[in-house]
Amino acid sequence: MSDKFQEIYRKSIEDPENFWKHASDDIFWFKKPSKILNKSNPPFYKWFGDGVTNTCYNALDVHIDKGQGKKTALIYDSPITGNKSKITYDELKSKVSKFAGALKDQGVSKGDRVIIYMPMIPEAVIAMLACGRIGAIHSVVFGGFASNELASRIDDSKAKILVTASCGFEPGRTVEYKPLVDEAVKLANHKIGKMILFQRKDHEVKLNAPNEISWDEALANAKDTDCVEMNSNEFAYILYTSGTTGTPKGIVRDIGGHIVALKWTMKNIYNIDEGDIWWSASDIGWIVGHSYIVYAPLFKGCTTVLFEGKPVGTPDAGAFWKIISDYKVKSLFTAPTAFRAIKKEDPEGKFFSKYDLSSFESLFLAGERADPDTIKWAESLLKVPVIDHWWQTETSWAISSNCTGIEMMKTKYGSACKAVPGYDVKIIKSDQTLAKPNEMGDIVVKLPLPPGTFPTLWNADQRYKENYMSNYEGYYQTYDAGHIDEDGYIWIMSRTDDIINVAGHRLSTGAIEEVLSEHQSVAECAVLGIADKLKGQLPIGLIVLKAGVDKNNETISKECIQMVRDKIGPVAAFKVAIVIKRLPKTRSGKILRGTIRKIADNVEYKMPPTIDDPAILDEIRQDLIDNKILNNG
Ligand code: COA
Ligand code: AMP
Repeated sequence: MSDKFQEIYRKSIEDPENFWKHASDDIFWFKKPSKILNKSNPPFYKWFGDGVTNTCYNALDVHIDKGQGKKTALIYDSPITGNKSKITYDELKSKVSKFAGALKDQGVSKGDRVIIYMPMIPEAVIAMLACGRIGAIHSVVFGGFASNELASRIDDSKAKILVTASCGFEPGRTVEYKPLVDEAVKLANHKIGKMILFQRKDHEVKLNAPNEISWDEALANAKDTDCVEMNSNEFAYILYTSGTTGTPKGIVRDIGGHIVALKWTMKNIYNIDEGDIWWSASDIGWIVGHSYIVYAPLFKGCTTVLFEGKPVGTPDAGAFWKIISDYKVKSLFTAPTAFRAIKKEDPEGKFFSKYDLSSFESLFLAGERADPDTIKWAESLLKVPVIDHWWQTETSWAISSNCTGIEMMKTKYGSACKAVPGYDVKIIKSDQTLAKPNEMGDIVVKLPLPPGTFPTLWNADQRYKENYMSNYEGYYQTYDAGHIDEDGYIWIMSRTDDIINVAGHRLSTGAIEEVLSEHQSVAECAVLGIADKLKGQLPIGLIVLKAGVDKNNETISKECIQMVRDKIGPVAAFKVAIVIKRLPKTRSGKILRGTIRKIADNVEYKMPPTIDDPAILDEIRQDLIDNKILNNG
């Protein structure tokens, strides 16, 4: 048991206000908070309530004030287009301050929402920071989502402006953003005021005046714009994430707590200092991208890498090693699926041996369970610590991790290490009592959550309370299940809701079912996530047709797959829809998704005592065999 870590952890749990007050001294405030935590209205806790600060000031200006303006803030590397650039803190501030002026010229002011639907280019980061500069609330939407999803975010956020680009590039395919955005704007009930579009080189698209303008036009007369003073509890951003229904949840982040917590994590969790080069290989559309491509590294004042590429195929399985070697990256953060993809293509690490990785000190993995095989493979190749840590869009930073900047702890393969300071993690069993070491149950966190987590959901206080804070009085329900062992190591075993993790992307099977149900021939359906060697999980759909449908099954299956791609997006990776005769259910009519999943994964299952007709399970098994689904993992 490590004393230094234990001592810091203990202080954070016994006296959180003092702990976070101390951390808050490390950020820039226009007015320091006099009250650290307001507990008067649980579960709505407020950190640093009367503090006044600004997200963008803490990301850029503060470092320039300290004479660090010439340091590189952002390295952009796009193996897909061949573009590369380095942007200093001075240059980034100048670009952000001008774009903030452009947003103001288009009528955006404090509190307005701005949707950002962009590929991994510096302008996406500039747009995010510009929002922070003028106190607008950004909502970044991942480029792999289709128009429908974008429209639902426009409607829920009631965005004033949408910032986009002419296209994104996926290996072998150009993602035309403009038609997707046009369709979303058409579908949305709320009408956005303006669209600002960044024209990518050699891929310009036509704009429709007067409410569509190019990025360059918007900048033409824009003036430099200073940071506005923001109350700590005003919102920095909304990030929509999958809920248990098709309606996404708008996770909000308040300003002061976000800066304090994320800056603290850079040294304490990741052991990153101001002079270091840090790389998070994710996408700005996900929480990992928000926190660890953009905000935390810039709050810390180090250099962050923005990579527009993939672990394999851009151009080969050496892409990650090239970036680390070219820019002397100290630590990388990505999803296990990226390493599984590299391992699959280059199991012996032939590409790896071509590069000098002497700068590299640690690899962090999150977003899904890191399987021990992948961790061990990465360790043997990289010869540095490989750290699995666990977190969620809701929290924006790790709930459990090896805190390498405090004290390196030993690895237990399959565990996401110990609770990070600030998080009092417990396991609650189905009988509502606290679990003993190694007993399984729901993983919960005692309230109040630390700063930087979600104080509520956008315009949905009640949903926040009912969904997350009501099942276990005084605790936040993570919807993950697992256990804590005798050494305090946390083992995340599964989700307890219908969320699945596909290539580190969070998806709701319920949302896919909603789309399938809209097909006119579908009577009922079940979508489940089955084990997949590369992506961790893959969604499959089982469809029961309405009586009298005379279309051929293959056609219906293809139509269903296309509907999911059109309505949710390619990111759903939905490629299998099987027509079956009937679904196994309990006597009360509940579909036995868990049992079907076990059959598909070819693992042992108990016959559910409440099953209506056990013979259906054999039928399903045969259907899965016929469709080559069984034993997929
Ligand atoms: N814009 C548009 N489409 C996108 C997209 C984007 N930003 N990102 C992914 N897609 C598309 C892909 O092109 C693919 O489309 P396809 O069906 O036409 O092939 C589909 O969405 C599924 O994408 P993905 O699940 O990522 O699969 P993939 O085969 O393209 O790549 C990996 C697999 C493992 C290489 C990739 O998922 C990866 O690099 N993951 C690790 C890093 C990461 O992003 N983690 C997430 C958060 S930490
Ligand atoms: P997201 O909100 O997209 O970051 O997804 C959060 C979910 O991903 C968590 O609730 C977990 O189910 C899963 N997850 C994230 N990190 C890990 C991890 N290290 N081990 C296991 N599951 C993880």
